Amino acid sequence: MPWSDGVRVNHRGTVMTEPDWQKVTSEGDVKEGIPVAFKVGKEKVLLVRLEGQIHACAGECTHYHAPLEEGLLTGHIITCPWHNARFDVTTGEMVSPPALAHLRCYEVKVEDGTVYVRRTKRAKPTPRPETEDQTFVIVGAGAAGNAAAETLRREGFAGRICLITAEADRPYDRPNLSKEYLAGTAKPGWIPLRSETFYPKRDIELMTERRVVRLDCGVRSVTFENSQSVHYDRLLVATGGRPRRLDIPGSDLEGVFTLRSKTDADQIIAALTDAQNVVVIGASFIGLEAAASLIERGLTVSVVGPEEVPLARVFGERIGKWLMGLHEKKGVEFHLGVKPAEIKGKQRVESVTLSDGSRLAADVVIVGIGVTPVVDCLSSAGLAAESGVPVDEHLKTADDWVYAAGDIALVPYAPLARRIRVEHWAVAERQGQHAARAMMGSTEPYNEVPFFWTQQYDKSLSYAGLATSFDRIAYRGTVSGKGFLAGYYQEDKLLAVASLWSDAEFIAASEILKAGKAVTFEQFEDEKVDLRELIGS
Ligand SMILES: Cc1cc2nc3c(=O)[nH]c(=O)nc-3n(C[C@H](O)[C@H](O)[C@H](O)COP(=O)(O)OP(=O)(O)OC[C@H]3O[C@@H](n4cnc5c(N)ncnc54)[C@H](O)[C@@H]3O)c2cc1C
Ligand code: FES
Repeated sequence: MPWSDGVRVNHRGTVMTEPDWQKVTSEGDVKEGIPVAFKVGKEKVLLVRLEGQIHACAGECTHYHAPLEEGLLTGHIITCPWHNARFDVTTGEMVSPPALAHLRCYEVKVEDGTVYVRRTKRAKPTPRPETEDQTFVIVGAGAAGNAAAETLRREGFAGRICLITAEADRPYDRPNLSKEYLAGTAKPGWIPLRSETFYPKRDIELMTERRVVRLDCGVRSVTFENSQSVHYDRLLVATGGRPRRLDIPGSDLEGVFTLRSKTDADQIIAALTDAQNVVVIGASFIGLEAAASLIERGLTVSVVGPEEVPLARVFGERIGKWLMGLHEKKGVEFHLGVKPAEIKGKQRVESVTLSDGSRLAADVVIVGIGVTPVVDCLSSAGLAAESGVPVDEHLKTADDWVYAAGDIALVPYAPLARRIRVEHWAVAERQGQHAARAMMGSTEPYNEVPFFWTQQYDKSLSYAGLATSFDRIAYRGTVSGKGFLAGYYQEDKLLAVASLWSDAEFIAASEILKAGKAVTFEQFEDEKVDLRELIGS
């Protein structure tokens, strides 16, 4: 119902007062194409002038509250500086995750050279009646599955949505498990992605503790362990990854854990109560993030890995060594170039013997040696290989009614001219969003550049693109805690970028990768070259 004369009456008969116009700043402070943020009462408001007109939306990202004015504006889309969610600044609409919610939006008026804003209400999605009789089933309520369910409702799907998970918890922030949650510093309420009432309010049937064991493509149904089944008109499978287990003596002792689910994290945290020595097996992302969190709990932490420099395969030796130094300064002890040979203990773990014969005392062992895609049902239906589920650019499998997204999906990737499978949170969410639209009939191809971040201590490193191998790395800035940007080249082609605190340049480089534009090695290293100007070149 539109506002009139400053008041309106809602459907319950309550008289509602129109929000007041709030003074923000003088018009001259808002320059064309340069986002600026102002405090208006308790709210932070972002102002953006586009083609002369000023637009206003909330100034903080709805994911982890990053300051949006530090992001990159391309056209009317602003990319969040921290984990690269995108929003439309003219409407506040969330365009792509990891943020899930839209930004608050405001009406703007300019009077006598002063900018005023007042809150506006977002219109409810228009239901699509043609979808009313349909049932869309989503197996997996992680990053991809949750994003898909939300997108379906937000974009008007009016039929039945079943969001199924084998876990007891409603969708939660999995990346946080190895970070603040494990360190014990996550605020209550950070972990669930949505409130308990969110799903029922949107008529999304969230089915927890329901493991799907069979997919029957002929009759279009999925079957649970208890033999009950659900029919689908479209199915999205987003079953994620399963941690690899160590195949050495003692790996089934009490106190040896993997970290994938909230239950895993809770079990580790419970086991830490009487622990002093933790051995982390695996010097990749989960291992290093866990090490950083556990050191913050005052524990003695050793990291074991076969590589000489952690994460050198991804970031290169220079950044890998810098990261390792960061951990060592905090007290993490590295045992690299070795493998675990045996875990010893009577019933509980007591020590880990390494391949060089050395022995590390251990009360808790965390194994972070990678994951394999969970494709059991799809394999038996003939839709998946061990390496994942091949899908087309609409995330559709070889069966017309079945889609796949997230850690299990092998998705076409133009820069490498092949399908790739990545294990990144924001990618899984974007794929879930895309698959939902495809299930409703959209024919737009999926065209995202992979993106991930890793948080270790107070350092958050971002990475976009995919360079499974590279022959040269270009750097902007020295690799140090003060910030840098690195570009990964193979045969003179930029394949990926990584950054610490170089958010706007990093986003520009990601946009360049997405647009398939070229940046020479020399241009990348030359700090006088503004990467933002190369996006549209
Ligand atoms: C500790 C940790 C930290 C991470 N940190 C980062 C990070 O910092 N940045 C980043 O980019 N990525 C990070 N990741 C990776 C990221 O979380 C994954 O890429 C992402 O969760 C994949 O999403 P998904 O939807 O494919 O699968 P998941 O999120 O794993 O969800 C899978 C879902 O499928 C369900 N399921 C599986 N089998 C069945 C079945 N048979 N029946 C019913 N339900 C089933 C599960 O219960 C779950 O609900 C991290 C991962 C972990 C474990
Ligand atoms: S804080 Fe904006 S995407 Fe994470």
